[in-house]
Amino acid sequence: MNKIFQKFFTQAIDNLKHENRYREFLDIARICGEFPFAINKKNGKKIIVWCSNDYLGMGQNPQSIIKAKQALQDFGIGAGGTRNISGNNSPIIDLENTVAKLHDKQRGLVFSSGYTANDGTIQALAKIIPNLVIYSDAKNHASIISGIKNSGAQKHIFRHNDINHLEDLIKGTSQELAKLIIFESVYSMDGDFGELEKIIKIADKYNALTYIDEVHAVGIYGQNGAGLSQKLGLQNSIDIIQGTFAKGFGAVGGYIASNDDIIDAVRSYASPFIFSTAMPPAIAVAIKNNIEYLSTNSSERQKLFANVSVIKQKLLENNINIFPNDSHIISVRIGDAYKAKIISQKLLNEHNIYVQHINYPTVARGDERLRITPTCLHTPTMISELIFALVQTINEVL
Ligand SMILES: Cc1ncc(COP(=O)(O)O)c(C=O)c1O
Repeated sequence: MNKIFQKFFTQAIDNLKHENRYREFLDIARICGEFPFAINKKNGKKIIVWCSNDYLGMGQNPQSIIKAKQALQDFGIGAGGTRNISGNNSPIIDLENTVAKLHDKQRGLVFSSGYTANDGTIQALAKIIPNLVIYSDAKNHASIISGIKNSGAQKHIFRHNDINHLEDLIKGTSQELAKLIIFESVYSMDGDFGELEKIIKIADKYNALTYIDEVHAVGIYGQNGAGLSQKLGLQNSIDIIQGTFAKGFGAVGGYIASNDDIIDAVRSYASPFIFSTAMPPAIAVAIKNNIEYLSTNSSERQKLFANVSVIKQKLLENNINIFPNDSHIISVRIGDAYKAKIISQKLLNEHNIYVQHINYPTVARGDERLRITPTCLHTPTMISELIFALVQTINEVL
């Protein structure tokens, strides 16, 4: 690198360090069959992970591993290229059919991540629908924000879950223009639910298209794990359902499910879909099995919610300040980047408990927190240890 560039990088890193936002990724080895245990590679100690999005332990589903191994032998490692120029493969097609069935939609479309599913679909919608105006909840995920920016469409941000604000913004837009409302079902940081029913009513009133991000809800909510829209009986009232395979479904990749025409058009206009290599077939096989497993088994969901409710109750009894919500995500309010980092470090070094602190820009400055994600595999003993360590450490640092 030419020396003239050096200072930019040094300065950028120094800024992050100065604001306690320099990211250190903990090197851990997950242990298949023993999750939520993992090994801290720094000191070889066994730790308990409390910040994984593998909420239902599907990352180690034994049947899916057997099927993926077989698929590796049958199809090899990679997909061989984009579906556009290197051919389709049946595991992905099967997975798209599975996703469509899960959400009671005509068709599914698989992307390489939930991020690209949002980014790519939103960009594509703006190419397909002339003069599209987008209304987006203020707390929507970075991938949605990226999609909106990349789309170049006119946008309005409504205050988080504020339906009156949404309606005011829509009223201020010409009736002639096509409208798209984008919202989430479970907001990933505060863990509160979106206002699905109210947004759908507004969309009906003003003929807007609806797009929901169900990333933190799929696998976890609804009779078959199809998300909050299924739980509320609203799947058929939402035009496009987006999800991920990386959290409740335990792997990687993202998707949308919708009607035939929408999927057929998005498929051809979404750059991140067309110009990126398809998901490896063995992963698609494993995911399909995880989705089908969770469609007919609810014991993981039940255990997860039982754990969440015990932890929330114990934290409240100990006067720990958690964000109020009815979901499975537990956010402990710290409100200071440095203190959040120190608490996280102490939990790891002194108690072998891994809880990641969350800083700006993932959350607003002053809203720093610890994000605890219980899973169905955490035991009562692990929960007691977590509460003890958290209470002790927070009281020490705050
Ligand atoms: C609300 C939301 N949408 C989309 C994504 C992106 O999903 P993925 O991790 O599959 O890229 C995330 C990731 O955390 C998310 O929280």
